[in-house]
Amino acid sequence: MSDPVVSDAVASEAAGLVELAERIAREAGEMLLAKRPARPEVLATKSSPTDVVTALDKASEELIRTRIRQARPDDAILGEEGGSTGDGRVRWIVDPIDGTVNFLYGLPEWSVSIAVEVDGQVVAGVVNVVPRGEVFTAAKGAGAWLAGERLRCNTGVPLEQALIATGFGYGPGRRAVQAEVLARVVPRVRDIRRGGSAASDLCSVAAGRVDGYYERGPQDWDYAAGGLIAAEAGARFGGLHGKPANPGMTLCAAPGLFEELHALLAPLNPERDS
Ligand code: IPD
Repeated sequence: MSDPVVSDAVASEAAGLVELAERIAREAGEMLLAKRPARPEVLATKSSPTDVVTALDKASEELIRTRIRQARPDDAILGEEGGSTGDGRVRWIVDPIDGTVNFLYGLPEWSVSIAVEVDGQVVAGVVNVVPRGEVFTAAKGAGAWLAGERLRCNTGVPLEQALIATGFGYGPGRRAVQAEVLARVVPRVRDIRRGGSAASDLCSVAAGRVDGYYERGPQDWDYAAGGLIAAEAGARFGGLHGKPANPGMTLCAAPGLFEELHALLAPLNPERDS
């Protein structure tokens, strides 16, 4: 079923982009699995000593950038490790390994996330949760898919029955506030999950493996692809007070639960650090 607000031109452009993004995300995943040593070494740290980069984050992004350039040399690219390059109406948003700490420890919850924006709107998204061999895809208006099955998020779940995924930033001041907020959320919901990859968490909303997700801190590359996948599975994906999803706060859940989660979080002023 196609979304009537999406024109045929956008739909066909999105279909081509998602196909290419999927091919590239699969190739990057295969490379990462083949090259991941038993215990990858930390190459550098970023915002804090626990915010790590491995050589394979860099190698994965380089591979993805090369493939995009070969196929579409005029497109812009934003990557977690390499920043912004180029400009153009089509922009690729790449997280070469989302869940780097899981990757480092050998936990099976890390992903390659690739989204494509056309004229500022995300129209294609692919999240390859590599250790699980699961590749989630979505094209704007054409639904969210996993292994040939169309995804639908859970609906009609009240807050007190909801399983909610979240995550934490790397800085102690941010984490202190996140813990304070969490202390107010846990008593109000079924339970909390902290998977370690925001992209994968959003796909879990799409697949009904959790009911909702919220987090302060994730960047475009963490949520652009997963956000489209969740939205195409029927979820609402956004920020606080009607804003689009942004690093201040990202929320995702079926309509109804989204509003309940928003009503719980907004008064806690969660977009701050101590
Ligand atoms: C992180 C993961 C994690 C989330 C952090 C992100 P990275 O991305 O998505 O689940 O809690 O906010 O920074 O650093 O592994 O690419």
